[in-house]
Amino acid sequence: MTFAPLLRALAACSVLAVAPSLAHAADPVRIGLIAPFSGSFADYGKQMEGGIKAFQKLNGDTVAGRKVQIISKDTTGPAPDVAKRLAQELVVRDKVDVLAGFGLTPEALAVAPIAEQASKPMVIFNAASSSITTKSAYIARVSMTLPQISAPMATWAIKNKVRKVVTLVADYAPGIDAETAFKTNFIGGGGQVVESIRVPLRNPEFAPFIQRIKDARPEAVFLFLPAGEQGVAFMKGFRERGLAEAGIRVIATGDLTDDHVLPAMGDATLGVITSFHYSMAHDSPENKTFLKAFAEANPGAGRPNFMAVAAYDGMRAIYDALKKTGGATDGGKFVAALKGMKIASPRGPIMIDPDTRDVVQTVYIRRVEKVGGELHNVEFDKFDNVKDPGK
Ligand code: PHB
Repeated sequence: MTFAPLLRALAACSVLAVAPSLAHAADPVRIGLIAPFSGSFADYGKQMEGGIKAFQKLNGDTVAGRKVQIISKDTTGPAPDVAKRLAQELVVRDKVDVLAGFGLTPEALAVAPIAEQASKPMVIFNAASSSITTKSAYIARVSMTLPQISAPMATWAIKNKVRKVVTLVADYAPGIDAETAFKTNFIGGGGQVVESIRVPLRNPEFAPFIQRIKDARPEAVFLFLPAGEQGVAFMKGFRERGLAEAGIRVIATGDLTDDHVLPAMGDATLGVITSFHYSMAHDSPENKTFLKAFAEANPGAGRPNFMAVAAYDGMRAIYDALKKTGGATDGGKFVAALKGMKIASPRGPIMIDPDTRDVVQTVYIRRVEKVGGELHNVEFDKFDNVKDPGK
């Protein structure tokens, strides 16, 4: 007797058995990427897309047998209403499985109720106000929170004998978070905050605020300004009004000296101290791999910044979650797969806290220096395993 008929029968059975999963496999996983791609925050969307391209260059566009399709939407932000409408369209019309991106807190907060109602996983690639992850059990964050970054800056300042500070933050949720966390640690450590200035999120005119800082005669100014051109404008005014000569130092969250804009900020930034989760100058094999893939996948894009890294890590989180669920995108299963996930990020090891769905990571203290003739954020101290202290 021959085995051929038996083998043929078995083969037929197995084709039948896999037929449903083949149908499932043919269906792509759709990820809706919501971020500003135009207007003054256009760089946010571009950095995120650049990070996704770097990731897919290394890891392909298929996971757990399913193609991964990215559908990018421009909020033109900050525009919470537009972000909300785009999220609704993505869920209802484009049938996305995952909502991702979110550069700006107000846009993430506007979309949170949609993730909640539609049971869609929402992966935050930047927006960093502490409260965002409390707005829905379907939200996880791979970037940072402002309290997580600002509290270590205050601890470092106290340790380094800075005692009298003025704070200046963008007047919206992440700025208030930064101001509160910095003040709590700084005053708790014996420091004095002589003035707290809040500036508009849109197109701030820094000159009068810079004069107020000068008049208050602090040892340092602590800053949070959202990444991008605002840092360039602030440092220009700081230089022109002679604050450095007046003995005032700049300490800030690393958004100020964002790697992408740092070359345009010039030598006025030399010596600026910042706390942050990612520097392009971070020395690790994972970062080398990332930088090479980013450059190859995004010719002419310039330097990547922390938003590109968060998108790269966010894609790793999404791919690994899909591997764990066998390609299923059910919101509950997907978020369960994200909880406790560890990733070897270009910034160092990170974990998604199983209780808060927020990122746990090392916060580095860096100084702007010239390396090989180029300005870089050089890490020289660190705080390991920092959770969001806001929760
Ligand atoms: C935010 O809106 O949450 C945000 C934007 C830019 C940053 C950090 C936080 O650099």
